[in-house]
Amino acid sequence: MIPDMELALFGGNPIRTDPFPSWPSFGEEEESSLLQVLRNGSWGGYNEKVAEFESAFAAMHGTRYGVSCANGTVALELALRASGISCGDEVIVPPVTFAATATSVLLCHGVPVFADIDPETLNLSPSAAQRAITPRTRAIIVVHFGGQPADMDAFCLLAEQYDLALIEDAAHAHGAVWRGMPVGNFGIAATFSFQSFKLVTSGEGGIVLTNSSDVADKVWSYCNQGRRDGGGWFEHFTLGTNYRITGFQAAILSQQLRRLPEQTRKREENVHYFRQQLESVPGFKISRVDSRVKRHPNYLVTIRYLSSQFGGARRETVIQALRAEGIPVQPVYPYPLYRNPLFQSNGLPPCRCGRWHPAQEYSSLSLPESERFCREGLWLEHNLFLGTREDVDAIIGACCKVHRNRSHLVAFENAESPSPTPH
Ligand SMILES: Cc1ncc(COP(=O)(O)O)c(C=O)c1O
Repeated sequence: MIPDMELALFGGNPIRTDPFPSWPSFGEEEESSLLQVLRNGSWGGYNEKVAEFESAFAAMHGTRYGVSCANGTVALELALRASGISCGDEVIVPPVTFAATATSVLLCHGVPVFADIDPETLNLSPSAAQRAITPRTRAIIVVHFGGQPADMDAFCLLAEQYDLALIEDAAHAHGAVWRGMPVGNFGIAATFSFQSFKLVTSGEGGIVLTNSSDVADKVWSYCNQGRRDGGGWFEHFTLGTNYRITGFQAAILSQQLRRLPEQTRKREENVHYFRQQLESVPGFKISRVDSRVKRHPNYLVTIRYLSSQFGGARRETVIQALRAEGIPVQPVYPYPLYRNPLFQSNGLPPCRCGRWHPAQEYSSLSLPESERFCREGLWLEHNLFLGTREDVDAIIGACCKVHRNRSHLVAFENAESPSPTPH
C-alpha cells in the first residue's frame, strides 16, 4: 500500500516547523545576578544569596522554613532522615515517578512499598496506599505528578489515622495549590528539584520545605557536616555531609522564582485551551484535574493514546508520526519503577542489619493502573505551553491529522514487520 503523503512521516508537509519555546529561559536578570556573585567573590554555600532564596521560596509556598540542598534526590533523603526513617521501615511510594522517590528510601535503608496510582489523575491512589499499610509502615511519599497535587485531604487523614510521616515529593509542582493551600504544607516536609528541566532551575539543586523547626534544624545540620546554626565551623554535633548549593545557583534561582507566577499563568491558560480542543479529537484522552486543585503548574501534560481508536496502531508509531509533524511528544516512563533492574536484581537489600525485609516480591509485582499508564501514556513538556494559542493549535492539528491517517499507520507497521508467511 502506498502511504498517504499527507503525513510528514511519509513525506508530507509537517504541521509545525518553527521551534517551540526553549527551556531553560533566562534574561538579563539572571546574567546580572550571576555577575554580581562572580565579582563579589562570595561563591560558596554559606552565602546571603542562598538564605535570601530559601526565604523567598518558603514564603511563596507559605511555609516557615526552607533549606536548600544539592538536588531533589538528596532533598528526599534529607526529609526521610529528618522523619526518622531507618533500617527496615516501610515507606509507601507510587511506581509512576522518577527513581529518586523510591531510591531515597533505600538510601536510608528503608523498604519502598509500591502502591498503585489513580488512573484518572495519575497520582498515588489513597485507597491503594491504605491497603499497603502494615505494622512496619512509617511514612508515605506522595508525588504531585506532572504538577497536579495528590489528594491531600485523603493523605492527611491517612497519615493522621495511622500515625505516619507524610512527605510531599513536589519535584514537579513548584507553586501548586491544593484547595487554598500551597503544596509544602501538608506533611512533615516537602521536597523540590531545581534540575535543568524543572520549573525553577539552576541546572541542579533542591530544597526541603517544612513548618517544623526540628525538621529544618536536622536537615540544615545534615547538609552542613553536622554543624549547628550558630555553632563553630569545626564543631560537628551529628553525622552530616556537604549538600550545599553555591551562591551562583542561588543567584539564578531567585530570578527564576520571580518568573514562575507569570509562566504558571501562561501555561494554565494554554493548557486550559488545549484541554477544550482535545475533547473533540478522537484517540487521545487527557488526564483529569481534580476540582480541588487551585493552581496547576503543568510541568507535564499527560495524555493517553487509545489504541482501540487508532485501529490498533502502536503508541510508538503514533509518537513517531506526531514528532514528524514537529510536535516533540514523549512516551512516559518505560515501565513502573519496580520493573527497573535495580528492583529485579539481587542487589537488594542494601544493608545487612537484619531489619531489612522484602515487603513485596518486586519481581512478580504488577500494579495494573501503573502498568497500563506506562503502556498508553504520552507527555508534552511544560515549555510547549509557554507560547501562543497558535502553538497549541499546532499540537491539536497534528493530533487530528495523525488520527485521521491512522489506517496508514497500521499499514506502515505491517509493512515494517510483515507477519510470518506460513510454509
Ligand atoms: C518526581 C521526582 N522526584 C525527585 C526527582 C529528583 O530530582 P533531582 O534530579 O534534582 O535529583 C525528580 C527528578 O526528575 C523527580 O521527577
